Amino acid sequence: MKIAVLVSGSGTNLQTLIEQLHQDKTSGIQIAVVISDRRKAYALKRAKRASIPTHVVKTQDFENRVDFDAEISRFIEQYNVELVVLAGFMKLFQPPFVRKYQNRIINVHPTLLPAFPGAHPVADTLAYGVKIAGVTVHFVDEDVDTGPIIAQSAVPVLDTDDEESLHDRIQVEEHKLYPEVIKWYAQGRLKVEGRKVIVQ
Ligand code: GAR
Repeated sequence: MKIAVLVSGSGTNLQTLIEQLHQDKTSGIQIAVVISDRRKAYALKRAKRASIPTHVVKTQDFENRVDFDAEISRFIEQYNVELVVLAGFMKLFQPPFVRKYQNRIINVHPTLLPAFPGAHPVADTLAYGVKIAGVTVHFVDEDVDTGPIIAQSAVPVLDTDDEESLHDRIQVEEHKLYPEVIKWYAQGRLKVEGRKVIVQ
């Protein structure tokens, strides 16, 4: 199965997908293309090191967001991608794009959704004072971080935590959960029934 990985930042999730899926020939999963909305994203270097094609698609280069989405769609079609994997991609898609790829776009978010959606999830988690944090992998729908939840994993919040130490602990779980979920998808084990995702 060919996947596209969309990134904006450092790309530690991309790195685990490269090592645990792309470079493991038994996985049957190939990262066909990595797309970034930021030219300077370190994730692009990780992709190039693994000889994976990369493209930069910047919102500023387009008149509107529908055209931006269309350019990304063009690459998805060009590389025959079955699943679109958001890995720290910090742009939102417009409804037509989400509808076109319904149940074919997944995202990893560093909280236990529906708690703390949005752009500052780990800071919001700490500020609220919850004792349990975690990670969610979900299908993308037309709203922000609201799509059907595929899998979650929890970690404790310690009194001594700052944003970095908590995010690091959450990322350890992300790096285990995300490759696993992509394997389930590739094996055809995910069944979406309304808001519920059954893992068969
Ligand atoms: C990850 O922690 C991911 O959960 C988060 O961005 C980080 C990217 O890290 N995503 C979101 O907040 C999406 N709303 P990475 O670039 O090292 O993979």
